[in-house]
Amino acid sequence: MFEELSKYADALSKNLENIVEVHEPKGLYEPIEYIISLGGKRLRPILTLMAADFFSEDYKEAVNAAIAVELFHNFSLIHDDIMDNAPLRRGQETVHEKWDLNTGILSGDAMLILAYQLFEGYEAAMFQQLAKLFSKTALQVCEGQQYDVDFETRNDVTIGEYIKMIDYKTAVLIGAALKMGAIVAKASTTCKENIYDFGRNLGIAFQLQDDYLDAFGNPETFGKQVGGDIIANKKTFLYLTAIQKSNAEDAATLKEMFSETSENPAHKIAAVKEIFTVSGAKDATLAEIEHYTKKANALLADIKLPNDKKDSLKSFGNWLMKRTV
Ligand code: IPE
Ligand code: IPE
Ligand code: MG
Ligand code: MG
Ligand code: MG
Repeated sequence: MFEELSKYADALSKNLENIVEVHEPKGLYEPIEYIISLGGKRLRPILTLMAADFFSEDYKEAVNAAIAVELFHNFSLIHDDIMDNAPLRRGQETVHEKWDLNTGILSGDAMLILAYQLFEGYEAAMFQQLAKLFSKTALQVCEGQQYDVDFETRNDVTIGEYIKMIDYKTAVLIGAALKMGAIVAKASTTCKENIYDFGRNLGIAFQLQDDYLDAFGNPETFGKQVGGDIIANKKTFLYLTAIQKSNAEDAATLKEMFSETSENPAHKIAAVKEIFTVSGAKDATLAEIEHYTKKANALLADIKLPNDKKDSLKSFGNWLMKRTV
């Protein structure tokens, strides 16, 4: 499985390095090179290349689309870290910490434009399909991010609203990454839609897992600030489920802690994690991750692909759910 993926990772690295080469003005391009060289899992562009590979003869045709998705993702991370006031990304300082706020805003903007430019090499009909999907997805990501921020100061968020929020901020891009591979591969409309739906369900599982790791990840290896979501009063599945499952006293404590900025974040993080655990919210989150992963896998039944390729997609999803970063 992982040897199979290394060919995709190699194709990406070479091209990414060229695209983010630093030139003048350095203040704009150095942060772009910085965030990209920190790496990350590169799961979205790998999914683009996998889909292209599985639906056609030549996955390399999809390299530019794959890189566009990764540039967009990194743009969204730079801006997300500003919005979340995050100090760490991929084990290093975030762009706005290392430079400043304005640098994070403008370098992020430039990455978004660079992403769009990469579609220019595709022929007209394909360009149109890719750009249309990209624009729709990017706007949904913005909507998801706005809900995420709105929810910080709301105390009546429902689990349904939370799922919609993570679907938009995270899952649609994972669906789009796969669909772009299928578009470049000229797969049938049904295949394109099915692979998109697979990605969306996988994406929901992926964000649930991200929220889980934000609280319960190992600070030595996680690469981001552990407890950041708790500090920022994010209304995650962990939180919403803990409210439902806790006794009245713990539920009241949680609500109280999530309605203010704590003077003592370390204490807040420890107290909240304890309630997440004893209420059963921690286990319920793990079960929910599995639920969406299975839902994604079940959708593969409707996709016209040989079984070994479906198995590769399943293994990739299962590997994602076991990740610690
Ligand atoms: C982080 O995405 C942002 C989310 C949508 C959860 P990843 O966990 O894919 O980040 P990298 O690219 O591997 O660093
Ligand atoms: C990120 O969600 C979603 C986007 C970047 C669009 P998070 O805020 O949970 O991502 P991390 O945890 O900072 O990577
Ligand atoms: Mg964040
Ligand atoms: Mg965020
Ligand atoms: Mg997170």
